[in-house]
Amino acid sequence: MHPSLPATPDYDAWPVDHQLVDVSHDARVITLHWDDGRTSRYHSIWLRENAADDTTINPATRERILDLSSLVAWPEIASAYLDKAGALAVTMLPEGIELRFHPGWLRYHDYDNTEDDRQPLVPVTTWRGGSDQSPVTLDASGLLDSAADSIDEAAVLEPALQAILGRGLVRLRNLPTEPGTLARIAERIGPIRSTNFGTLFDVRAKPDPDSNAYTSIALPPHVDLPTREYHPGLQFLHCLENSVSGGQAVMMDGFAVAEALREEDPVAFATLTRVQWRFANTSRNSDYVWHSPMIVLDDRGQLDEVRIADFLRGPLMTHFNEVDEAYRALMALQERLRQPRFALRFSYAPGDLVIFDNRRLLHARDAFAGDTGHRWLQGCYLERDEIRSRFRILQRRQRERQVADSSTTTSQVTTAPAAP
Ligand SMILES: [Fe+2]
Repeated sequence: MHPSLPATPDYDAWPVDHQLVDVSHDARVITLHWDDGRTSRYHSIWLRENAADDTTINPATRERILDLSSLVAWPEIASAYLDKAGALAVTMLPEGIELRFHPGWLRYHDYDNTEDDRQPLVPVTTWRGGSDQSPVTLDASGLLDSAADSIDEAAVLEPALQAILGRGLVRLRNLPTEPGTLARIAERIGPIRSTNFGTLFDVRAKPDPDSNAYTSIALPPHVDLPTREYHPGLQFLHCLENSVSGGQAVMMDGFAVAEALREEDPVAFATLTRVQWRFANTSRNSDYVWHSPMIVLDDRGQLDEVRIADFLRGPLMTHFNEVDEAYRALMALQERLRQPRFALRFSYAPGDLVIFDNRRLLHARDAFAGDTGHRWLQGCYLERDEIRSRFRILQRRQRERQVADSSTTTSQVTTAPAAP
């Protein structure tokens, strides 16, 4: 029987697409050579912390229990070799314990050959609109009939999540139109975020509305709930009825608009990444307020989120000398939000579900004639975390199948995972 590979400090599956062929070390660094010519180095302290033995992680939870500072000395490597299973075996001082490391896991976590581990799960593709454009659209008619965590479910979810992560938008079609169905669909991805509008909210004209969304008037491009510290990462809008004239949906990629502004009016772009606007709802019963720039960059200067909604913006309260430039920059942005080059327009059909990144995309709506029929959408919010976690689990299931398939045919896995 082939000797087995060691456990890893997680619940994932790690296909071994490359074999270790040689190992050398000094006290503080292990150097590994792979069969494709790659060389990888790992620090002794890093290996010690990421071991999978019972002194490092709780086997019941696979969460770390080791406190590095409790070691009596800095971990050092006494010896290292490749064992019969193809794993790395290391004897560590001062504890004098032998720790084994899985080659598939080591290869994936090869930080020596990874410039930036924070790359998005799916490359971000900015897009513009136009009359010939439409959202990525998938037939989801079998989704709710598929078993949770099944291959049939993954066949719909995987491309859907890929489109949301990469383009910020997907449209699923042919879903049931019973009220409340949205909760069952959303929970295939993750838990719903409740707000003061409820768990599911109904978007339709109603008497005594507490939002412009609940009227038949046009809505300008906006994100939802910019008044919150974390405005929701994802919005779901599920069409149950649509027989009115008008009411076309408009979507635009806020990242594309921001990038155009960065290129065409860099001063305005910089202003909108700096000035703290006040976002506030106007309500008789709630009083949400948050201050934020309209364009938020990460520490690498890449777009992280936009926060734009004219009807939820309170009075600007910034430095006196910033006010004129802040409004000039705002209007430079607003002009672009009206430009057809960014807008993607479509009509909802009953059974459509549009899912979009609410911290990236702006959505808008044409006015509709409420006396011509009914327009009823149900909506809900999730966080970006949920979609990333779900997508990672789908990738994990794929890797598990690869490992299972390979273990029934050969002791070596030859299919590459999505690894650096
Ligand atoms: Fe909205």
